[in-house]
Amino acid sequence: MAVIDLRSDTVAMPSPEMRQAMVTAPLGDDVFGDDPTTNKLLEVAAERMGKAAAMFVPSGTMGNLIGIAVNARSGEELIADADSHAFYYETGGAAAVCGVQIRPVATERGVMSPRQVEEAVRPRDDPHQPITAAITFENTHNRHGGIVWPLEDLRAASDAAHSQGLRVHLDGARIFNAAVALGVSAAKIAAAADTVTFCLSKGLACPVGSIFCGSEDDVDQARRWRKRLGGGMRQVGVLAAAGLIALDHMVDRLAEDHSNAHTLAEGLAELPGVRCDLSRVQTNLVFFDLDTVPAPAFTDECARRGLLGDWVDQHRMRFVTHYGVDAEDVQSALKICEEILSA
Ligand SMILES: Cc1ncc(COP(=O)(O)O)c(C=O)c1O
Repeated sequence: MAVIDLRSDTVAMPSPEMRQAMVTAPLGDDVFGDDPTTNKLLEVAAERMGKAAAMFVPSGTMGNLIGIAVNARSGEELIADADSHAFYYETGGAAAVCGVQIRPVATERGVMSPRQVEEAVRPRDDPHQPITAAITFENTHNRHGGIVWPLEDLRAASDAAHSQGLRVHLDGARIFNAAVALGVSAAKIAAAADTVTFCLSKGLACPVGSIFCGSEDDVDQARRWRKRLGGGMRQVGVLAAAGLIALDHMVDRLAEDHSNAHTLAEGLAELPGVRCDLSRVQTNLVFFDLDTVPAPAFTDECARRGLLGDWVDQHRMRFVTHYGVDAEDVQSALKICEEILSA
């Protein structure tokens, strides 16, 4: 049985061009800074983010953790959206590894207003309270449905943070989805942040890897943190080779994933017992609620019929479109959902 895997864009397989490039990439030891393929990728990545320097990390989680470590010290506080990946899904790493306390802020759509930023900053002159050192924004925002921050809102939130003396980290795991959706360069989005992490291994379909970007000084500190975390890798050019192909060939095609996600969401919204807020389906993530069947049971029934999805809670499901899923797969997925929900 052919399986349509909509659990996440992380399941996307590398393209044939990536596999070929991985085989032939010139290699060296990246901990010594000697890997020519990685160095080339870092140059391109820094340029795409409009930052001075970049560093390869094995995962988005490590990139965010290093972003926190570089921007805040032990005992200090970092502001984050209450549904952010950094707060929700990174196993308390900020506290466990960096000694940094996260101050979660609840938002409507993952977008923090300047007023919310200002209200979350602690008064500097109160010795009882921690120092607010930094803030992190997530764009696109995963748990809020893959929504894209309007550029002016991101700038306004970032300006509010900077005017309070905070450092700004951007979790840009899916920054290229945001860039394609807005029709702007990723650098224009990343300009709102001091440091940014983006993932190669999600919509860009690489097998492994994320990139941390910032100033030369940020990346110097980040290299030390990466070593401390055991994330310094050697002939990592085998992975960077795929990253170079991804940045050249996999960004523009994200529009196809967005269009497939939109078709999927529209089809789901018409099915009995499904609620899907189409205004939130702006990129490749489709969240929807089920009224008549528990989401875990629906997930199991889909899997029995060859459709893999991810349940978020008892009522909520997530499907994700990506490289390897085409318009025909979307129609097949809708047919499976319809059969289950109309039974
Ligand atoms: C918004 C966001 N940030 C960070 C990550 C972490 O990436 P990784 O799975 O590579 O650690 C994810 C993973 O899904 C994510 O969705």
